[in-house]
Amino acid sequence: MRKFLFLLAFISTATLFAQFTDYNTVKEVKVSNKGVVASAFPLASEAGAQMLREGGNAFDAMIATQFALAVTHPQAGNIGGGGFTIATTTTGKKIALDYREKAPSKAHRDMYLDENGDANLDLSQAGGLASGVPGSVAGMFKMHEYAKLPMEKLIQPAIDLAEQGYALSAADANSLNNRKETFLKYNKNPIAFVKEEPWKEGDILVQKELAATLKRIQKEGQKGFYEGETAKLIVKQMKESHGIISKKDLKNYQVREREPLVIDYQGHQVVTMPLPSGGLVLAQLLKMVDLKGLKGMQLNSPEAVQLMVEVERRVFADRAEYMGDPDFIEDQTEKLLSPAYLKDRMANYDPSKATPSSEVGKVENLGKESMQTTHISVLDKDGNAVSTTTTINGGYGSKVVVSGAGFFLNNEMDDFSAKPGVPNMFGALGGKANAIEPNKRMLSAMSPTIVLKDNTPKIVVGTPGGTTIPTQVFQSIVDVIDFGANANIAVNAPKFHHQWLPEEVRVERDFPETTIKALEKKGYTFKKTYKIGRVEMIVVDENGNYHAVADGRGDDSVAVE
Ligand code: DON
Repeated sequence: MRKFLFLLAFISTATLFAQFTDYNTVKEVKVSNKGVVASAFPLASEAGAQMLREGGNAFDAMIATQFALAVTHPQAGNIGGGGFTIATTTTGKKIALDYREKAPSKAHRDMYLDENGDANLDLSQAGGLASGVPGSVAGMFKMHEYAKLPMEKLIQPAIDLAEQGYALSAADANSLNNRKETFLKYNKNPIAFVKEEPWKEGDILVQKELAATLKRIQKEGQKGFYEGETAKLIVKQMKESHGIISKKDLKNYQVREREPLVIDYQGHQVVTMPLPSGGLVLAQLLKMVDLKGLKGMQLNSPEAVQLMVEVERRVFADRAEYMGDPDFIEDQTEKLLSPAYLKDRMANYDPSKATPSSEVGKVENLGKESMQTTHISVLDKDGNAVSTTTTINGGYGSKVVVSGAGFFLNNEMDDFSAKPGVPNMFGALGGKANAIEPNKRMLSAMSPTIVLKDNTPKIVVGTPGGTTIPTQVFQSIVDVIDFGANANIAVNAPKFHHQWLPEEVRVERDFPETTIKALEKKGYTFKKTYKIGRVEMIVVDENGNYHAVADGRGDDSVAVE
């Protein structure tokens, strides 16, 4: 019997190992028993870690990192966008902050339709009219209620980076060069991101106007952004760029502290953002997959991928029909998470073939709903966890820089439904639930999440990636909990994504061909894509050590206290 058990243990370890060997490309993994910060750029993670060293907690680190990313990661880091934060504290508090952008008060349902009633997505995706009222700065001040250090101190690293400049990475230099024409098209005044000669790796990007804006925020608090000089400059830019954000819209912006969405999954508690974020999608994915269960299956195997894709198909059809800003629509969260409903949704699941998307949702029912985002995961040495995703939506948002204030405004209005049945920039469809209304928050896919085990953080996770956000957070969580993957594999193994429509499964180029072939035989269509997600993940092991991983798909980096 002992021999048999030994053999069994050997075989399962060997299988587990075999399942992961192909993916073991380590980029940035740090193991620590002190605080850790994982974000999209090394200097930003370092700004957060510095606050931990100086006696700050996870909230301090998060705020410093977020402001530093607004300088060092201009394509996504922001003060001109919005986001969500999930946090759990050592005192047992669970916090959900919603500082999503809002439609300006002059917005209306048909604002992107031309005289023939056709949606003009150029307007929702770039230029002044694409911007919602930014929420990020208000979000940081709300978060500061849980921090220990003065706000002035938390903003200082960002000011220094903007004023003195920082060295561009090769990827960032490329990215700025690729957008030069677009930047010139949308900005009549000179901006820091355009220069005569092409940018190259190591060039120093100095942002004097942004430094001045950050100093106003440092000096005047939230009002330094939403009122006074910065507000004046935003409104002036709106006039030049045909936008509609008013002084009043800025002054009236408010963060919503919401009740976190908490679900049980495989002996863990998953704490995530409720609507209008993507947390509800994540919760549905986990609960629906749990009906059949992934235990015994292997990561990226045909069985596991099929089950997860079918769950994604059904949940994204629900997203399109039911999800939007709960302050404006009937919140269907309870129904969408009820066991009876989820069971009914999976009733037509057939493991022998792909379920046609038309069998799980109807485009006719949609009354359209609905790249660039960034995630930060922080865990301090005491066990306070903060998970924050913020965005300006597309790369460099609306491409419009607020002249004199030095930052990009978002193009978040594209996350609303411009017209029923018209896919947005992420190919997502949506319903009446996500139609444009004045002051409404547009539906988001962002899903900052913390997984607790016995009331202490086990996983802190999140990612950018538009509609792929909840599916990547879903995969990272089940990779660890169900497939026994370590944090590096959960982040860096090849990813897949399905979203009901289009009827295809997107996979990264190194996704296992054996799985693709097996599922093609069952009627699935695959589409290879360059990269899916940029997950920042912290996993706590049985000994309480933190395994922090910054996604190998970008310049992402972990800094340790
Ligand atoms: O809130 C959302 O769902 C989108 N605005 C997120 C955009 C995004 O992740 C782009 N990043 N790569």
